[in-house]
Amino acid sequence: MPTEQLAQAPNDLEPFWMPFTPNRHFKKEPRLISAAEGLHYLTPDGRRILDSSAGLWCCNAGHAPRRVVEAVRRQIGELDFAPSFQFGHPHAFELAARLRDLFPGDLDYAFFTNSGSESVDTALKLALCYQRVIGQGSRTRVIGRERGYHGVGFGGISVGGIGANRKWYGPLLPGVDHLPHTRVLEHTAFSRGQPQWGAHLADELERIIELHDASTIAAVIVEPVAGSIGVYPPPVGYLERLREITERHGILLIFDEVITAFGRLGKGSASEYFGVQPDLVTTAKGLTGGTIPMGAVMARKAIYDAIVTDNNGPDHAIELFHGFTYSAHPVASAAALAALDTYREERLFENAAELAPHFEEAVHSLRDCPNVVDIRNLGLMGAVELSPREGAPGARGYEAMVRAFFDHDMMIRITGDTIALSPPLIATRADIEEMVGRLRAILTRLD
Ligand SMILES: Cc1ncc(COP(=O)(O)O)c(C=O)c1O
Repeated sequence: MPTEQLAQAPNDLEPFWMPFTPNRHFKKEPRLISAAEGLHYLTPDGRRILDSSAGLWCCNAGHAPRRVVEAVRRQIGELDFAPSFQFGHPHAFELAARLRDLFPGDLDYAFFTNSGSESVDTALKLALCYQRVIGQGSRTRVIGRERGYHGVGFGGISVGGIGANRKWYGPLLPGVDHLPHTRVLEHTAFSRGQPQWGAHLADELERIIELHDASTIAAVIVEPVAGSIGVYPPPVGYLERLREITERHGILLIFDEVITAFGRLGKGSASEYFGVQPDLVTTAKGLTGGTIPMGAVMARKAIYDAIVTDNNGPDHAIELFHGFTYSAHPVASAAALAALDTYREERLFENAAELAPHFEEAVHSLRDCPNVVDIRNLGLMGAVELSPREGAPGARGYEAMVRAFFDHDMMIRITGDTIALSPPLIATRADIEEMVGRLRAILTRLD
């Protein structure tokens, strides 16, 4: 695109209160993006920035995928909005059926949201509602995991395990407890794929159950691969154990697949990848390839049946008091259908699966770079963890991100001093080499 057509830097950056961003520093030295295509962003002055993070783990089909762009253009002219309360439009039903086919087992029902955070809070509400309608109303506790990220709603930060996201906001949801995290570098550092050590950490759930009693616990929620906190694949056998314990105690298992669904591990979902059947799955991001905000919660048939099918209320009575104005928005639904078509027709999940061993090799080749204390990977998720600077945790990671953008024309995602990689699934071996090569150059120069 010619530079003169690119959106130029605005004069006034002040009024936009930027999310999860050091606003003061950004506004002194802004990193602006004006356009995107494929694996690249374009800055207002026309620099091509290599996207190593699929935006925020969401642009799985790369930027501006043709089918999605066309579908959105068409849809907005045809049906801009239709309520999903008491009415419906055909694409929403078609999309739900496509998702039913994509997710394993009897995760047959889709409840639409607009984001990962909304999906998480929806799933928690579904779990509580389900327990109540089956006569288990004393089950009101939800169990998350330390270092887990489940978005920013009150439910999500309550079950989430990141102190900085929680400490400002009061007592949060009552009755929440947390499993221990699985980050134990002395046992797991530089594991390739799933660490062999750590399945026993799932047994901590038995301790929590003993403390609170199973009759008070509605659900356990975990990310099958912890993403936002810095890519932690589950130890071998860990998710299976969580499933076994929850099932034995009548506790629902929720997989938060906001990052892992739609091909990140080379399959439609992490549930399929690991062969572990959760009761509820939260999604967003890759559902529309990041193009239009949309999320979905997939629920097993027994949950839908208990709340909806077996409901003896009169015909005019609503079965579940929950929903969003933009649930199943027509434009988002069209974008999601086109994204799913793109994944299938361009074999992007298969591409991710084929690329994964090469990606693993490439990220682990950074082990000899300065300050690297761990490297982790699974599918097309990777993390390079750096040691923090003395007295300044996060400063080294932040500097890496800033330098990547200005000096190496690359967007990287950081969490503290960890650099996370999640390339769009359209990447080739050469693209991965390019990303890792640039990262090596950044790390080598970083003190
Ligand atoms: C596992 C997980 N859950 C929930 C969320 C929140 O999604 P959103 O930012 O769309 O609300 C994220 C976002 O990164 C996530 O990674």
